[in-house]
Amino acid sequence: MIRLAGVSKLYSPESPALADVNLDIDRGEFVFLNGPTGAGKTTLLKILFGGVRASAGDVLVLGRDLRRLSSRALAAHRRALGLVCQEFKLLPSMTALDNVALAAEVTGVSARESRRRAAALLEDLGLGAKRHAKPPMLSAGERQKVAVARALVNDPSLILGDEPTENLDAATADATMSLIERAHERGATVVIATHDAALAGRSGQRVVLLEHGRVVEPGARLREAAL
Ligand SMILES: Nc1ncnc2c1ncn2[C@@H]1O[C@H](COP(=O)(O)OP(=O)(O)OP(=O)(O)O)[C@@H](O)[C@H]1O
Ligand SMILES: [Mg+2]
Repeated sequence: MIRLAGVSKLYSPESPALADVNLDIDRGEFVFLNGPTGAGKTTLLKILFGGVRASAGDVLVLGRDLRRLSSRALAAHRRALGLVCQEFKLLPSMTALDNVALAAEVTGVSARESRRRAAALLEDLGLGAKRHAKPPMLSAGERQKVAVARALVNDPSLILGDEPTENLDAATADATMSLIERAHERGATVVIATHDAALAGRSGQRVVLLEHGRVVEPGARLREAAL
């Protein structure tokens, strides 16, 4: 599903953001990337997403060798993933519902079905009453909920989250994690970066610990280990 071998990323020559990272994540796993600020978590997610190219090493994601993809194929790769991050770009002139539904429509789902899925997700996140509001009229946390719904509307087989619950109150953070966990139960592979050790430890999932751009603890598949 995901295989990183000898992956390094140098934004500048002095200090690598990632240094010789080797990491395998199986289909259907739920993995937290944990570690202090600056450890390289976001960089690692961006490499999986195809937004940043590794300086060295092999990057296989969903059977695709990201180093060899054309920019067009890389764009298709990105559309197939569910990305929950803080730099979400909602379209300010479209309603919350349409922002979410559009992500489904562009993949060929009918307008009616797209809107049905979008409405259901917004409802699950407690934003049903505001589905016709446009992003500028929403609070930061509400906009984040729209972005979460948009990331999940196509039932992606790989969900990448970068601090997906930061800035959210406890109830909304729980609703977000529940939606991601439900997607995982339906078979999605999930990789979530967080510096929040409490979030990473909360449900007994595998925790990969990064420090100074290196994997210092690859974590175990805890559920299976317990069997
Ligand atoms: N675009 C960039 N240009 C130069 N350096 C960068 C860039 N992005 C990240 N870095 C550096 O790479 C290192 C890893 O950053 P990264 O954002 O991956 O860390 P992180 O683990 O996600 O941290 P945080 O918990 O604060 O989000 C840091 O030292 C950072 O300063
Ligand atoms: Mg980060």
